[in-house]
Amino acid sequence: MKAKTSFFCTECGNESVKWQGKCPACGSWNTLVEQQTMKTDKKGGFQPKRNNKAVPLKDLSADHEIRFSTGISELDRVLGGGAVKGSLVLVGGAPGVGKSTLLLQICGSLDGIGSVLYVTGEESCQQLKMRADRLCSNNDSVFVISETNLNAVLDSVDDIKPEFLIIDSIQTIYNEELTSAPGSVGQVKDCTMSLMRLAKEQGITVFVIGHVNKEGAIAGPKVLEHMVDCVLYFEGSVSSGYRILRAAKNRYGSTNEIGVFEMLNDGLQSVENPSEMLLSGRPENIPGTCVACVLEGSRPILAEVQALLCPTSFNAARRNSNGVDYNRAMLLLAVLEKIGGLRIGGCDAYINVIGGLELDEPAADLAVILAVASSYLEKEVDSKLAAIGEVGLTGELRAVSNLNQRLNETARLGFTKCIIPRQGRVRLQIPEGLEVVQVSNISEAMRAVFRS
Ligand code: TYD
Ligand code: MG
Repeated sequence: MKAKTSFFCTECGNESVKWQGKCPACGSWNTLVEQQTMKTDKKGGFQPKRNNKAVPLKDLSADHEIRFSTGISELDRVLGGGAVKGSLVLVGGAPGVGKSTLLLQICGSLDGIGSVLYVTGEESCQQLKMRADRLCSNNDSVFVISETNLNAVLDSVDDIKPEFLIIDSIQTIYNEELTSAPGSVGQVKDCTMSLMRLAKEQGITVFVIGHVNKEGAIAGPKVLEHMVDCVLYFEGSVSSGYRILRAAKNRYGSTNEIGVFEMLNDGLQSVENPSEMLLSGRPENIPGTCVACVLEGSRPILAEVQALLCPTSFNAARRNSNGVDYNRAMLLLAVLEKIGGLRIGGCDAYINVIGGLELDEPAADLAVILAVASSYLEKEVDSKLAAIGEVGLTGELRAVSNLNQRLNETARLGFTKCIIPRQGRVRLQIPEGLEVVQVSNISEAMRAVFRS
């Protein structure tokens, strides 16, 4: 078969037959690169099975999906209750965030499940051994190989017959039948396809690490998201000790669970109680901070929102928001100015959420408003007070989901007062020791908080 070339977009992975300046799929400029896709017609895609008959769905037994625990509670939670046999999971994240560390720790905690093969294309086996010693990941059923050639990896899988395969990282693995460089879109797609086939045909659970890279030359895991069963992103700044694992796609579970880890000297530690971690060391009785309660998946999390307002020294005020969407923060500042009557137009405003958490739920609105107002008015919010509620453009407070669950978590962490939207339908179950104040707009909320 003749060698075929295609053009792939390094942003979205779209394939075109000819080169163009602008990707027709995602609209980015100058991102198409030429790739020789195939030399032989052997690879690529699943081979069609002969005599493959459709079967009634109700006759299938559900035990085809076999879950097992990875031994790391936060990882199990993100995967939807454990890893699924025969699935392919892609773990993406910035360099240094801890992807290799997490997967090496799985090797240590999987004891009893069967053998594990760790393929590293980035380190030598000795380096891996040093790290594994530190992480206590040594046990008899863990095999390692330092290899970048896909066929050698597949041979090694045939040899060891592992239950669990870890590839670190997909960008270093290459198929010698393709002429393009390792890490290019064609290679990454082809190798993932081969691993997918391995997972489905032999029932091996495969975890693949993918680097996220802003530069166009290396294909990020974005192009792979369509192929794999589950995509996990590892987030968190490398300087802060906390890491958040988030599912962006999961064929076997929900995608809105997060896992929280702390990077310690002996590897990543699951954080079972993120609220306690996020609130520890909080300044008390100082203006400019307020606690919000947001839902991450099924889990309520309390986080501290801080705001700093100071008179601007330029014509246009500076606005900065970290952890709260910038546009959402601007909207809340405008509501506070117009409806709340605070003259914050002439102030620089900085908003920050502690612990690197992203509050993308509107239930945090009220806490943002109160933190900003507190800084502007130089009056502190009681440190035992939490605020829950979405703020509308007319300054009204809107109801939020799962309020009782949030109140329980708030009370559990020792808060004594909670400001919530006025309730119509939901029957409140107020936990003992928590005073709940129902308000209908931000002016009422501010009166309730800054009473003195
Ligand atoms: P690593 O897993 O190599 O990152 P990735 O594979 O995502 O690029 O983790 C690298 C960082 O983790 C490194 O900067 C040091 C830190 N680290 C610890 O703090 N403690 C540890 O026990 C380990 C193994 C790493
Ligand atoms: Mg690594």
